[in-house]
Amino acid sequence: MPQKITAGNWKMNGTQASLSEIQAIADAAADIHSLAILCPPAHLLHRAASLPGPLAIGGQNCHHAPSGAFTGDISAAQLADCGASYVILGHSERREAYGESDSLVRDKAQAALNSGLTPIICLGESQDQRAEGRAIAVVLAQLTGSLPDDVQVIIAYEPIWAIGTGLVPSVAEITEVHNALRAQLLTTFGAAGQNISILYGGSVKPSNAKEIFAIPNVNGALVGGASLKAEDFLPIMRSLAES
Ligand code: PGA
Repeated sequence: MPQKITAGNWKMNGTQASLSEIQAIADAAADIHSLAILCPPAHLLHRAASLPGPLAIGGQNCHHAPSGAFTGDISAAQLADCGASYVILGHSERREAYGESDSLVRDKAQAALNSGLTPIICLGESQDQRAEGRAIAVVLAQLTGSLPDDVQVIIAYEPIWAIGTGLVPSVAEITEVHNALRAQLLTTFGAAGQNISILYGGSVKPSNAKEIFAIPNVNGALVGGASLKAEDFLPIMRSLAES
């Protein structure tokens, strides 16, 4: 069975003052029986990971090399050194703004695994690609190109047009993509592909979480805006635990 996971992506938001919000999420995570992961910006990782409670901590990116002359970058080992155990890779904002390719994402995922981190590999089509009827083909190609040769991964399907927009695909659209991802994972890894968690991301809110979590092969969510406040993130975590 895939693990149920609510992951929060804080992106470039938050300061030391936000640690009380992270503590509130960690406190609530103790009573909710599904895995909660928070991915704050890098400067908060160490303090967030030191807070009491069962909240797991993740980075939002890492370099594919273990160390070296890469000004401004952070390695997977350095994320682990801060107390992170997960890392978001290949988010569409990084694929778009920094031209991250599938093969780079795969190299980063392998680097993460080498440092004991579980990569959360993001995939998703643009609005144009969906309009052209290519959503499934695009997402499956991204999966094939970005996946390391290791079953210890989490997949996040995040249609680019749904991120931060309030737009959410229909239940039928999410079902179609998640079923296709599961089938591909089973082809790649055999029966072990059944245990990989496939998260949905893109405008997940307390108001739509229950409906999304009822979809087969949706094993949780990657949440941006609604993860910034415990009062929004907690009901999403609860909906998943109850699904
Ligand atoms: P959103 O972002 O929940 O604010 O749409 C999701 C993400 O980018 O991971």
